[in-house]
Amino acid sequence: MSQSHTFDNHPVDPTDNRDENWRNDALDLTLDYGMQTIAVRAGQHRTDEGEHSEPIFTTSSYVYASAEDAAAHFNGTKTGNVYSRHTNPSVRTFERRLAALENGERAVATASGMGAILTMCLAYLKAGDHLLAANQLFGSSIGLFNTYMMKYGVEVSYVDCFDNEAWANAVQPNTKVIYCESPSNPLAQICDIGFLSKLCKANDILLVVDNCFATPALQRPLDLGADVVIHSATKYLDGQGRVLGGALVGSDALMQEAFTVVRSGGISMSPFNAWVFTKGLETLKLRMQAHCDSANQVAQFLVSHPSVSTVHFSGLSDHPAHELATAQHHMKNGYGAIMGFEVKPSTTNSDYNDEKSAAWHVIDSTKMISITNNLGDAKTTITHPATTTHFRLTPEARAEAGVKDGLIRLSVGLEDADDIIKDLARGLDSL
Ligand SMILES: Cc1ncc(COP(=O)(O)O)c(C=O)c1O
Repeated sequence: MSQSHTFDNHPVDPTDNRDENWRNDALDLTLDYGMQTIAVRAGQHRTDEGEHSEPIFTTSSYVYASAEDAAAHFNGTKTGNVYSRHTNPSVRTFERRLAALENGERAVATASGMGAILTMCLAYLKAGDHLLAANQLFGSSIGLFNTYMMKYGVEVSYVDCFDNEAWANAVQPNTKVIYCESPSNPLAQICDIGFLSKLCKANDILLVVDNCFATPALQRPLDLGADVVIHSATKYLDGQGRVLGGALVGSDALMQEAFTVVRSGGISMSPFNAWVFTKGLETLKLRMQAHCDSANQVAQFLVSHPSVSTVHFSGLSDHPAHELATAQHHMKNGYGAIMGFEVKPSTTNSDYNDEKSAAWHVIDSTKMISITNNLGDAKTTITHPATTTHFRLTPEARAEAGVKDGLIRLSVGLEDADDIIKDLARGLDSL
């Protein structure tokens, strides 16, 4: 099939966010293009204006030729957009491009990463079901599961994400979803997605993997056997910390269930944000390579510093999950760019003689790195999880997630690696 230059508006099922011809859109994916080509071109849907770059469709609704035409759109005899809570061309372009990058049949965009995780819960769980999750997760995910899923009758339990035996032992007859992040927030722990996939398939469980830290540039969980991929697009998919968004990716059937939740619940992505993410995907692989290269250098610096007791980063050759991460990540030397490191209390300065004050000293001594809770940004960010992202967890849940008072989370950005290292050394050297 030749490259499509059609400017036709492809018909779209009004109850749906895909259309039958989407794989024949601006890039014919049956021609087996490489990831970078897909990132730049997949999913684009040219209008009659013949625009080269992807436009932003800032419209909440759509017009019909007549009352009869409107009725036909609603009763399903005619396809097309009806309302941007359901479908929007800019959002659809992002969904198609991300689905192609993750090797999924379809993606559903959401207003934020948490919106995607809530959608997953509402689509695939009901009262009486059991959600089995990794104990190392973003704090708000644990909060959502423990506060709201439990409130609505879903049983929730957690296991050490790197302990395959614990996962197998924790499966119950009512387990419907296994949920993990790999790498995880904030300790960058790695889950064995292939193992979990086999466990899920043997027990009729859905495997849902939050791929926010790796992105499809490093890892494609669906290829490793996951059923659904979750994204906080807010992070690397944008890559410059501008807007909020999220997504789910998976089979057509699973995404239809997710789409119905998003449409009914109004957890929809804004067209402007979708456009930012679409353009962000174009440079994702290049950015991730640069992020990972710098992260490897920063990790080497941290591991050799006398004031650092532990570095949580699977790129280090003695990390327990180094081999697993090497096998799961398809980018050479791509272990991600987020790491946790634990700071030792000072033995000489009584102002910093406990873990928290030592960690805060390192954070406060930086002159360039941004003190913020976001990550996956071009700008390096530094966070004290125990008092910010994981603050709302109970002390027990925090301990289970491995969030100690001396732990610092670093998201290595795109500045010169030497400057990042110098900025970290200011506080570490003066402990
Ligand atoms: C791993 C992970 N998943 C999900 C989220 C939630 O995403 P959002 O902030 O876009 O709602 C975050 C946010 O930090 C995260 O780190």
